[in-house]
Amino acid sequence: MRKATRHYDDEVIGFSNGWQGVVERQVLALDVPTMQHTLPQGGTVLGTSRYNPFKVDGGVDEVFASMTDNELDGLIVIGGEGTLSCANEFAQRGLPIVGVPKTIDNDIGVTERTFGFDTAVSIATDAIDRLRTTAESHNRIMVVEVMGRHVGHIATWSGIAGGATMTLIPEEPFDIEAVCQSLQARHEGGRFASLVVVAEGAKPIPGTMPIPEDTYDEFGHIRLGGISHRVANEIERRTGIETRVTILGYVQRGGTPTAFDRVLSTRYGIAAIDAAHDQAWGSMVALRSDEIVRVPLSDAVAELKGVSAELWDVAQEFFA
Ligand code: F6P
Repeated sequence: MRKATRHYDDEVIGFSNGWQGVVERQVLALDVPTMQHTLPQGGTVLGTSRYNPFKVDGGVDEVFASMTDNELDGLIVIGGEGTLSCANEFAQRGLPIVGVPKTIDNDIGVTERTFGFDTAVSIATDAIDRLRTTAESHNRIMVVEVMGRHVGHIATWSGIAGGATMTLIPEEPFDIEAVCQSLQARHEGGRFASLVVVAEGAKPIPGTMPIPEDTYDEFGHIRLGGISHRVANEIERRTGIETRVTILGYVQRGGTPTAFDRVLSTRYGIAAIDAAHDQAWGSMVALRSDEIVRVPLSDAVAELKGVSAELWDVAQEFFA
């Protein structure tokens, strides 16, 4: 904000609730005093929504009209896969847009980090550390479910950081029998506590374990949350070892951001304002080799970034 208003003398407004706010003209005047004290806050001061103007009658035209009505030179769009995919569609249609990658999922391509991810990993790691106490006191297997519907970055990072016995992620369908055998062998070998981290989107190899049909919300997003219970039931049934579940859910999205996320979001914000002034429309600011760079928005949303083979190998070093 300082960069925009003090350095460039810009007038800045924000739209509440994502693309819905653009379409419905939910406008907030933004300046340095209104944005003061936001650095240690989590979430978003603007609000967000699962709203896709391409799926709403007249939504696309309204976005263009809103730009004109609000006399905007450009739009800086902050968000994850859904938000930035829409931004890319609009950029392809000529709307002056710069993207900023923000999601706890860290699944946006071409950037090494989205902001929010580091905070979510810290929260999940802290939870794993705390759950280890019960695992060890009660000789149990603890199954911890973390977010990650399509990719397992949070699970893999927190699994490694928390020394999890095993991590299950969407990119690598799991064999429940192999999971159970490995846990059983570990416990028969003298270990008395295990921690299994499961990403909410983790899937068994088809046909290896019963799972209910997928259900979807009103925006067509798959409803997740609960795979950990099914995994835990199978583990307890097949191994006979007492197994308990904790679903971290929205706890991962709350509270104060880590220093890393505060610094990264500040760097992204400044770079996005510079990009807008350079009219680098259709670009997204990104972190690469610890430098903030501009990358084509179309490359960033071309495909979701999964966990790298190297990191997955590291996680598996811990397995049983
Ligand atoms: O995309 C961010 C995210 O937190 C995902 O990790 C999670 O699957 C999803 O949002 C949850 O969405 P909702 O808030 O709609 O339940």
